[in-house]
Amino acid sequence: MKTIELNVNRKMYKVEIEEDMRLIDVIRDKLGFLGTKEGCGEGECGACTVIMDGETVASCLVMAFQAEGKEIITIEAMEDENGIDPIQQAFLDEGAVQCGFCIPGMVLSAKVLLDKNPTPNRSEIREAISGNLCRCTGYNKIVNAIEKAAKDLQGGE
Ligand code: FES
Ligand code: FES
Repeated sequence: MKTIELNVNRKMYKVEIEEDMRLIDVIRDKLGFLGTKEGCGEGECGACTVIMDGETVASCLVMAFQAEGKEIITIEAMEDENGIDPIQQAFLDEGAVQCGFCIPGMVLSAKVLLDKNPTPNRSEIREAISGNLCRCTGYNKIVNAIEKAAKDLQGGE
């Protein structure tokens, strides 16, 4: 066992981990942020996507100790006292959520995209979510949602 300090959702946590614990295990099992989903466990599906130092990572492929000193953002940080984030609202408005399993990862990939490129075209959106698999929606509504979120974040033009 070893104790590490992690910065998750802008708060510091001291957690005891096994050396071989993955970041997703700490996020879900130690910290209780259950919005991060485990699908494949092999870096293929994107359900476990979190943001680490401004970039999306598959938290099933990152060892917990590798996240020390980094800023980790999970889907829970997308909601604050003012409610859900405009990206999440756009997913609801566009009917882009079915079972919802992929959605936390999709939203976080969309956030990283829109932080870097506030006016992406549809192919840039598709590229940004290419690591996030969805079994339900056929992707069009998700792309519509991210396009709408981009407009809403620009003030709705
Ligand atoms: S659970 Fe991590 S990529 Fe699928
Ligand atoms: S909404 Fe079900 S996997 Fe995407």
